[in-house]
Amino acid sequence: MKTPNILYHNATVTRQRRNQLNNHKSIVMWFTGLSGAGKSTLAHSVEEELHKLRCKTFVLDGDNVRHGLSSNLTFSDGDRKENTRRIGEVAKLMMEAGIITMTAFISPFKEDRNIVRRLLSESDFIEIFCKASLKTCESRDVKGLYKLARAGEIKNYTGIDSPYEEPDNPELIIDTENESLEQSVDRVIEFLKARKII
Ligand code: ADX
Repeated sequence: MKTPNILYHNATVTRQRRNQLNNHKSIVMWFTGLSGAGKSTLAHSVEEELHKLRCKTFVLDGDNVRHGLSSNLTFSDGDRKENTRRIGEVAKLMMEAGIITMTAFISPFKEDRNIVRRLLSESDFIEIFCKASLKTCESRDVKGLYKLARAGEIKNYTGIDSPYEEPDNPELIIDTENESLEQSVDRVIEFLKARKII
């Protein structure tokens, strides 16, 4: 639904000027993967590294956002879609504000992630697939939720009775089963340097 009769007001302090002031570019790094694949851990570790490099950063984390902005959403397919849409819009605003924005959500549907990709310009959306098998994620079971899902106490659990669609062409694949956290962080930082973001 488009809101009628609302025009845009153009700011004079632009993203480009904010980026110049910050001495780095702003982009969205979209971490996706199963619950327990290491999205939040990796995003927050990358943020630590960027912070040391004096970059402006923020991590939008699934668990936190579902306590606030998305507290009225369930884990139905439609609500996950809406969750992804909201995070995409917020991430875009943060990027416009000059921040290196990281999102750590399962965001299970390819099409929904691609909608966010199209919302931003191609070079602004960096999809990072945190790759770990269901078996590994389930054995980690950091929050004990896989166990509850297997017992039927949680419905629509991603990987159990709700699908996860792997990205076809992510900018980065991080194999969290076989790489150390340090190696993974280095790979993300190197990617940002190669793209001249930082
Ligand atoms: S998403 O599918 O809408 O992107 P999101 O990343 O926000 O999911 O939330 C996932 C987190 O919520 C998981 O890490 C887990 O801790 C918790 N959770 C609770 N119920 C479910 C469920 N049915 N499926 C997946 N995760 C769930």
